Amino acid sequence: MCQFKNINSMSFAEYKELIEHGDTAIIFLGHDSMFPVSIQQGGQTQTKYGVIRHSSDLIGKKYGSKVTCSKGGWVYILYPTPELWTMNLPHRTQILYSTDISIITMMLELKPGSVVCESGTGSGSLSHAIIRTVAPTGHLYTVEFHQQRAEKAMEEFQQHKVSHLVTVKNQDVCKEGFGVSDIADAVFLDIPSPWEAIRHAKSALKSEGGRICSFSPCIEQVQRTCLVLAEHGFTEINTLEILLRVYDVRTINLQIPDLGRMTEDKGSSDGSDKSKQISTAQPECALFKSGVSPRETVGHTGYLTFASISLF
Ligand SMILES: C[S@@+](CC[C@H](N)C(=O)[O-])C[C@H]1O[C@@H](n2cnc3c(N)ncnc32)[C@H](O)[C@@H]1O
Repeated sequence: MCQFKNINSMSFAEYKELIEHGDTAIIFLGHDSMFPVSIQQGGQTQTKYGVIRHSSDLIGKKYGSKVTCSKGGWVYILYPTPELWTMNLPHRTQILYSTDISIITMMLELKPGSVVCESGTGSGSLSHAIIRTVAPTGHLYTVEFHQQRAEKAMEEFQQHKVSHLVTVKNQDVCKEGFGVSDIADAVFLDIPSPWEAIRHAKSALKSEGGRICSFSPCIEQVQRTCLVLAEHGFTEINTLEILLRVYDVRTINLQIPDLGRMTEDKGSSDGSDKSKQISTAQPECALFKSGVSPRETVGHTGYLTFASISLF
């Protein structure tokens, strides 16, 4: 087991206002163009708009500032929320994205003070979000059997000053479990054979019970997991798939409906039949903003299987 301790008041888990040496910050050039940098006294970062000098341009400035680069273009320097980290982290594996993460957080009922067991750590995308949610008094135990991935995750937690909130274990969760028992409020699995880890999840959960979630891309994995969950006494077994439908905003030219054009004039004073008069004026058009739904939703990431256990 490897564990780093580094208690620091400011971290990924807690927003701070000013940029400091040693921070990880996000350089934002546009919604499709962002990247993380480690802020260093004397350091510099190249962008297509020119150089940013960390000491003079960044350190001491507020997160969210607009910074002018050496060629005159500008960028924003953003605080690395877990959502921005998920969009910018170096991928070592497939990762979970914020849509699934938000449902996982809600359905596992995570909150400050929660104790969570997770496997595998992968690239640490979900781990960062869990840590932010359970801080400042909760803890994440995350198990990863790939040694370099476990080491890299520990390094990042230390750089992001959250290592006091997380314990990384380099072991096989299916064989050795989470290394803790009777401690967790919730367990999360993102491994190829989650059914092999269910008995370990059960023993990691608090004696009064808790919640579990397993993420699997294939329905056959879900079927096996559900069977084993039921065998171990888990109840309320539910599988969800979250498909994100992103609407495109377009400006369109539309006719304005003229509901008064066909008039009913029953009280005419000259006695002529003016009822059902039809206007010959051209219909008016105007520009509208419209939300256009996608023709098809290509968004399958995986199935999220949730269950509860009460051990009394
Ligand atoms: C898809 S990745 C997890 C991604 C992670 N949820 C994230 O958001 O970054 C799956 C990880 O599980 C690890 N893994 C697979 N089987 C495992 C096992 N039996 N014990 C521990 N880790 C395992 C893999 O090495 C891999 O890094």
